[in-house]
Amino acid sequence: MDVINIRTFHRFITIHLVVVFLFLIIPCGVFSQLSPGKLTKAHSSLEGLSNCTLCHDLGAKISEKKCLSCHTHLQQKITQNKGYHVSKDIKGKACISCHSEHHGVNFEMIRFDKKTFNHNLTGYELKGAHKKIDCTQCHSPENISDPVLKK
Ligand code: HEC
Ligand code: HEC
Ligand code: HEC
Ligand code: HEC
Repeated sequence: MDVINIRTFHRFITIHLVVVFLFLIIPCGVFSQLSPGKLTKAHSSLEGLSNCTLCHDLGAKISEKKCLSCHTHLQQKITQNKGYHVSKDIKGKACISCHSEHHGVNFEMIRFDKKTFNHNLTGYELKGAHKKIDCTQCHSPENISDPVLKK
């Protein structure tokens, strides 16, 4: 009686270990082989298997640290507690909730409505005449200080 029980127990454990093992191994295997789609133009130089871990930790998770290790200008502003990326719009949200990837070269990673954008969140309030002029009057390539984005 006891012997049978131990055998059954062993078989039970073995099957479960195999199942658990497969669940652990399959996502890693798929991750290392398949990109869900092309990266956007701005990141197209990061295409290819050797670059996945520039953005991903193992197991497909996105690492915000890794994003910010390239986007050092943004990291600086966050450290200084300045700019839109430390505003209440962003706090507590994952980068990928606003900046998705793998939707093809023409995908806009930055999507926001210029008309309804609350400029106060940038830490620079638009007052008086500044409210009426076009965004591009101030936001022109010459005025962009981030060397990563200036190119
Ligand atoms: C420039 C950064 C970047 C690079 C490089 C990159 N990815 Fe991604 N990847 C992302 C982002 C951002 C998401 C999240 C998209 C979302 O959830 O909206 C993502 C999502 C994924 C997902 C889906 C994960 C999920 O939970 O649905 C897989 C799978 C994936 N990437 C695989 C790869 C592979 C394989 C490579 C290399 C060939 C790669 N990625 C390279 C940024 C990157
Ligand atoms: C290996 C360096 C590197 C990594 C890692 C990286 N980026 Fe970038 N990213 C760049 C470069 C370079 C550009 C600008 C390319 C250009 O337009 O000249 C860029 C552009 C962008 C832009 C602007 C896109 C546009 O259309 O103007 C956003 C948003 C962005 N990255 C978000 C992210 C996020 C989120 C992650 C993490 C998932 C990430 N980046 C990871 C190098 C990187
Ligand atoms: C609530 C939405 C939201 C979240 C969350 C968010 N962003 Fe952004 N991001 C934006 C918008 C809108 C812009 C365009 C305005 C600007 O330049 O700040 C932008 C611009 C950018 C740019 C290009 C401009 C620059 O300053 O370099 C990069 C790079 C970027 N985001 C990376 C990130 C990273 C990395 C994270 C996570 C740590 C993140 N974003 C989280 C909305 C978001
Ligand atoms: C009078 C000049 C001026 C006008 C007009 C203006 N901005 Fe700005 N904007 C600024 C300044 C200055 C900053 C702060 C830059 C910084 O912190 O590096 C800023 C910051 C931003 C940022 C956040 C950048 C970041 O990463 O924190 C966004 C997004 C933005 N403006 C969008 C707009 C939009 C959309 C319009 C038009 C509706 C507009 N701006 C009109 C001067 C202007």
